[in-house]
Amino acid sequence: MNTDQPLALLGGLTPAQFMKRHWQKKPLLVRNAIPGFVPCLNRSDLVALAGQEGVESRLIVDSANGWRMKQGPLTKRSLPSFSQKKWTFLVQGVDAQHDGVHALLQQFRFVPDARLDDVMISYASDGGGVGPHFDSYDVFLLQAHGQRRWRIGRQKDLSLQPGVPLKILQNFEAEEEFVLNPGDMLYLPPKYAHDGIALGECMTWSIGFRAPKEGELARELLLGLADEAFDGVGEALYRDPKQPAVASPAAIPVELGDFARQVVAKALKNPHLLENLLGEYLTEAKSNVWFEGSDSEPDLSAGVQLDRRTKMMYDERHVFINGESFRVGGKDARLLRQLADKRSLSADYCALLSGDAAEALLDWMSAAWLKPLEDFPSPRT
Ligand code: SIN
Ligand code: CO
Repeated sequence: MNTDQPLALLGGLTPAQFMKRHWQKKPLLVRNAIPGFVPCLNRSDLVALAGQEGVESRLIVDSANGWRMKQGPLTKRSLPSFSQKKWTFLVQGVDAQHDGVHALLQQFRFVPDARLDDVMISYASDGGGVGPHFDSYDVFLLQAHGQRRWRIGRQKDLSLQPGVPLKILQNFEAEEEFVLNPGDMLYLPPKYAHDGIALGECMTWSIGFRAPKEGELARELLLGLADEAFDGVGEALYRDPKQPAVASPAAIPVELGDFARQVVAKALKNPHLLENLLGEYLTEAKSNVWFEGSDSEPDLSAGVQLDRRTKMMYDERHVFINGESFRVGGKDARLLRQLADKRSLSADYCALLSGDAAEALLDWMSAAWLKPLEDFPSPRT
């Protein structure tokens, strides 16, 4: 993507300007971000998705007795009538379920894929919403159908109402207010307080970007390191030929502490191991995604494209795909990086791959991570 080209999607800003001025810093309201936007999913498509096993969904009702939340799958009969006010249901990960939604997501790839989480779609009856809250995500809120009034504020007080089944701010104070029409979009950085209330029936698409939490990432990497360390660090035993006789036998020898530090440093010594584990972690498929391998003979002659659920990224030495890493260099690295960036590779380029790389692509095709290249659906269909 040309990051210096002004985009209607960003209100005439270039991706480079948007990232510099707004990303993680301040909201941006874009009128007509997608002119003439007509969502490729309607209310009943969304109801059907919310009823599926393996698709994460929630029903949220703002009733006289307070907030109610129910986790999906949500059968059609478990939903209130759309003439009843003040309720909404939300479906996560719709980009993994629907080609048209996945195609729209491609317009946001001026942000690294490593930061992308998913597209969540909500459908609300008149007055419906999830209450005033904040997210730990960067989010683009794209109005897809009907109108929604957003009230937003920078508040520091992020205390939550106790005893409520969802995150509702205790003292929400709005500073600005906008009514969004179909095709309008609002970007909010993390921790920005917001409350979106449907004006009539309304559908909103949330394009969400996650940021790894320190402790969570450290745990994931260290778990991976632990597996590697068992075989990789070595078999040498701790030796203590200079150990004097002790009068306090329960005291742990200082030298044993030093040995512990040394073996952990040894486990971290391979500078590429962490990068490797990071790439594998970032490309791991979500827990509700599984690929059904195909029985048909894999074939690269038409070129290839990534399945919409496939995550593929790279660093200087590796390519990563769906939690696996491959060390690559030279021409193969250039071609596989192109596959990761463009999510497709033409037949001509596939023909330039080395035997080993072509073999890997055939394996990925058998695993249904890739499929023969076909036309991408247009973002608006
Ligand atoms: C919604 O679509 O109702 C909620 C989206 C959000 O506030 O993050
Ligand atoms: Co939110």
